[in-house]
Amino acid sequence: MMKHRISVIPGDGIGPEVIREGIKVLEALAETTQGLDFEFITFPCGGEHYLRTGELVTNQMLEEMSKTDAIYLGAVGDPRVPTGVLEQGILLKIRFYFDQYVNLRPVRLYPGVPCPLKTPGNIDFYVVRENTEDFYIGLGGRFSGRSRQELELVRSIYHAKFGLDLECDRDELAYQIGVISRKGAERVIRYAFELARKKGKKRVTSVDKANVLTHVYLLWREVFERVAKEYPEIETEEAFVDATAMWFVKRPEWYGVVVTPNMFGDILTDLGAMLQGGMGMAPGGNINPEGISMFEPIHGSAPKYAGKNVANPIAAILAAGMMLEELGEAEAALKLEKAVAAVLAEGKVLTPDLGGSAGTSQVGDAVASKIRSMDE
Ligand code: IPM
Ligand code: MN
Repeated sequence: MMKHRISVIPGDGIGPEVIREGIKVLEALAETTQGLDFEFITFPCGGEHYLRTGELVTNQMLEEMSKTDAIYLGAVGDPRVPTGVLEQGILLKIRFYFDQYVNLRPVRLYPGVPCPLKTPGNIDFYVVRENTEDFYIGLGGRFSGRSRQELELVRSIYHAKFGLDLECDRDELAYQIGVISRKGAERVIRYAFELARKKGKKRVTSVDKANVLTHVYLLWREVFERVAKEYPEIETEEAFVDATAMWFVKRPEWYGVVVTPNMFGDILTDLGAMLQGGMGMAPGGNINPEGISMFEPIHGSAPKYAGKNVANPIAAILAAGMMLEELGEAEAALKLEKAVAAVLAEGKVLTPDLGGSAGTSQVGDAVASKIRSMDE
């Protein structure tokens, strides 16, 4: 029997509540699927742990996680901790440490789920977000106190442009650098084309802002066009991110696979989440196809809903389904998705965000019992 060892980071806010339901569903699958078994190893990372110990994710924790098969994360974010500390020190740290270069975010509107669009059509596509480059590499700063050389360079640019003599020493300038590498773009773009093949999607759309951020995104385009040649049966398209935001709303059924640099992927997938019924419906996988991947609902810790048993656990449950698929458990992944779809279609056990009055744990129970009854 193959036992999958899963690192679990319940995290902050509603994280622990939704992860509990995801694990409940995984356990129902293990009970009803021959040869499927899990061992869960929990890590305390999050706001509370940080405030108590000063630890975010330690090297020892990363070492332990690297001995497991996948990571299952709830959410990090705590109003008591300054913005960015937990995000960078836990979530981004893990994404970068394990080189999870694909952030795969399916956008699928299940029957029975309310959508804000008047005529939603068939919404069923994937956003493949690059996950280790772009403006997420953490390179930048305030100019005061930085090297004289950098300072003079920026001052001379501003002087030439506007005749401005900036007093950088007084904190007037901040900068952040986005980087795209040929290798980094190529591996994620190739993943997107392979995904289109595997899932039978006929079109891959590349989204950038190459008309303004020419340095980085013209390189991205060059790579996209070259990789596209290896997949002649797949239709391709290049679009700007602003227009794509509009088209997501106007014509979501057009999309098959969308591949995009890190920051645009971040923004577009919150829009995508709304197309599929809200943040409570949107799962994601931070994937290293050759390494250890991490699965999470794309929503945050939503502190105001924490502990109230109202958060929608479907995103976290679907993220567990994506984890199963990555672990090679295609049959169990399919069962999970069918069970979720059935609960949604019946419309009897839904959380308030979907117009129901059920609690977080009831939705988890409903999906788990659907799974058990499927085998009868
Ligand atoms: C997401 C989140 C993160 C991101 C934040 C919390 C760092 O918004 O997973 O989409 O920007 O990637
Ligand atoms: Mn985001």
